[in-house]
Amino acid sequence: MTKKIDSNSQLPLSTSTAGCRIAQPSSEFYSIFSQEEILGIIDALELRREIPLKYSYKGRGGKIWDNFYLKYITPRWYRASSTEIDLLKENFECINDYAQNCQKVNIVDVGAGNSYPVKEFVTRLNKLGRMNKYIALDISEELLRVSRENFKKWFPKIDFSSYQIDIENNFLAKILLEDQANLEPEHTAQIFFHLGVTMGNHQNRAGVFRNFRDSMNKNDLLIFTNEIGSSSQWDGRARGGLKYHVEPVYSWIKNELGIRAEDCELVRKYDDKIDSIVATIKLHHPYTLNFSFGKIDKSVEMAEGEEITIWRQHKYELPELQQDIERSGLQIVHYSTDKYLSNVMVICEVASH
Ligand SMILES: C[S@@+](CC[C@H](N)C(=O)[O-])C[C@H]1O[C@@H](n2cnc3c(N)ncnc32)[C@H](O)[C@@H]1O
Repeated sequence: MTKKIDSNSQLPLSTSTAGCRIAQPSSEFYSIFSQEEILGIIDALELRREIPLKYSYKGRGGKIWDNFYLKYITPRWYRASSTEIDLLKENFECINDYAQNCQKVNIVDVGAGNSYPVKEFVTRLNKLGRMNKYIALDISEELLRVSRENFKKWFPKIDFSSYQIDIENNFLAKILLEDQANLEPEHTAQIFFHLGVTMGNHQNRAGVFRNFRDSMNKNDLLIFTNEIGSSSQWDGRARGGLKYHVEPVYSWIKNELGIRAEDCELVRKYDDKIDSIVATIKLHHPYTLNFSFGKIDKSVEMAEGEEITIWRQHKYELPELQQDIERSGLQIVHYSTDKYLSNVMVICEVASH
């Protein structure tokens, strides 16, 4: 659970000494993140000038994601399709056939968000009498609340449980053991979803693949989506999440850190060091970011012109993707792309050798 730290209601502060601005994160910042997460943020700022995107789904960031999803991704009368939902629909038979070894299926939705993408899939599996349980996992307690509300409304009779975890730092197998989700792996297959092109955002993609692998039995599947192609070939146009998710995340994060709007700008670019498309906060002045709370007392010095990465997306070339999958002890059962050949859904099982 995220530790809630009591705090007074200070506003974020930005003061200036001899041209160097001093920013102090808001009291809200310290209440959203646990001590461990704050240290993770400071480390990432010091080592890579980054606030990992995963932290931007917490606190008010949960609402930002849900709003973005409802406005730009959910199918509507004027936008009939959604990539994830369409790919799940297209692959339903393949997934259902594969899981026939077991009577029942648990869905373990890692990075569940608001759970919308799996609604139709769960409906179909439930009609076949195969749904046993839905387990939502997410770094964001706020999104887990949204997921619970949605799921309970859609499927009041299906067993639901949720856990707050960071898939980069927590053992998935341990959580499932606590949940006793897969007491009879011979009778209950587990389908692990990792949807919403989240795989390519992780700092430690190899570790995340291994984490999935280590929690899977022989009847289980990992199903994830990602953008495919070459990040370096990006045409420079901001669309989808890079436009409509990034904008509110940028406003929110800079306020939480205490960086003044007039001292920075939002930049989107291809970063060749990490082969990813990124969005950054570019500073127009030198800044000292002062983190001070409880036992934490650290400063991060940043020069004029330096950038803090707040959003990243790594597109996979298929051979690279296959290599990452195989290195983690998984193998591909099937994959399919959307009609624009820009997104892929990959279905993996534990490798047989
Ligand atoms: C891009 S959204 C996708 C949400 C949903 N799966 C979908 O397709 O709409 C990414 C989700 O993964 C969660 N997430 C990101 N990094 C995570 C991590 N390291 N551990 C657990 N959850 C994470 C976020 O909180 C968010 O809910």
